[in-house]
Amino acid sequence: MSTTLPDGSPAHAALPQAPAPVNLRLPGPTPVPEAVAAAGSWPMINHRGPEFAAIVARVTENLRHFFQTAQDVLVFPGSGSAGWEASIVNLFSPGDPVAVISIGNFGERFALVANSFGLNVTKIPFEWGQAADPAVVAEKLRALPGLRGVMVTHNETSTGVTNDLPALTQAIKSAAPEALILVDAVSSLGCIDLPMDALGLDVVFTGSQKGWMCPPGLMMIAFGPRALAATESAKLPRFFWDFNRARKSFAKHQPPYTAPISLWYQLDVALTMMRAEGRENIFARHAAIGEYTRRRVQEIGLTLFADPAHASNTVTAVYAPAGKELKPLLKALREEDRVVFAGGQDHLEGKIFRVGHLGAVQQPDIAAALDALERRLK
Ligand SMILES: Cc1ncc(COP(=O)(O)O)c(C=O)c1O
Repeated sequence: MSTTLPDGSPAHAALPQAPAPVNLRLPGPTPVPEAVAAAGSWPMINHRGPEFAAIVARVTENLRHFFQTAQDVLVFPGSGSAGWEASIVNLFSPGDPVAVISIGNFGERFALVANSFGLNVTKIPFEWGQAADPAVVAEKLRALPGLRGVMVTHNETSTGVTNDLPALTQAIKSAAPEALILVDAVSSLGCIDLPMDALGLDVVFTGSQKGWMCPPGLMMIAFGPRALAATESAKLPRFFWDFNRARKSFAKHQPPYTAPISLWYQLDVALTMMRAEGRENIFARHAAIGEYTRRRVQEIGLTLFADPAHASNTVTAVYAPAGKELKPLLKALREEDRVVFAGGQDHLEGKIFRVGHLGAVQQPDIAAALDALERRLK
């Protein structure tokens, strides 16, 4: 550990200090376990050398397990938003007709990205707080012949709703069998069951700061066979996000860019811990904690925002307590109790707050956060 400046003088006073720890109850970034944090300080290595190749091989194999796919899963530097762009530029050409199923802010943003790239976007919106209705989706899709793609958010982080992906996939496949199905699984994958191959999904992507017990900075994405075929005719310009270019490089266990080596170390450690816990056990842990969070919130006397039939097991949205200003409440929790909840987004700002319960989370973490909230409401 270097504690000196380059001229040899002590650097202690000059160095910025780590922020004080908090009970971070955001739906990302999420707390990082000690072993994962420690891996972030390991020494740099050659990202084209044998040690890094071994990490790529291990991480890829473990990601395949969690994506539940036999396809290649590629890792790019970037946040979840990169998944929207990477999937669109690899599969489509300007003017291609696509539909975006939107149940909240992140669905809206998927549509925005598709629009930005000149696709011909039809939105299929649902009320925020509700899941997409597969029958309505099928009906709307039937009125849109020639669709090239359908985009869907698995878990809508802004509202705390998980779409019924098996039912939606079935609806999409029956109404628009030629359309590629692109799934934003940024805040669900690794926490909620999402069997990519069994559902026949074409693209699935996620981000390291959500269910993966890692810092932000990596986007993981898999393409199924139909998506790989579509890359051949897709005309949108692409370079950094070019899936085939990256795939060729990763086939040699080398990234096509200078890898953020520390983040790869951390993902490698986190995935190893997740394999040790077991995929189904992780799903069960999230289901139990989601259930606990919803029950406790109601016991405190607060009202849940999401349709209970589709409540998310990674994030819970809660209406602001009646007669209380939300902003000062969240501020007091943050500054005095060191509990950090997320606010509402877009038109829900000031109306709801959100409790993140994904990744490295155990029931006592949620209990402590909700105890603090309860004390403030008394
Ligand atoms: C469902 C979903 N999609 C996409 C994103 C965008 O990810 P990022 O903020 O990492 O770019 C988020 C972030 O919260 C998300 O929850």
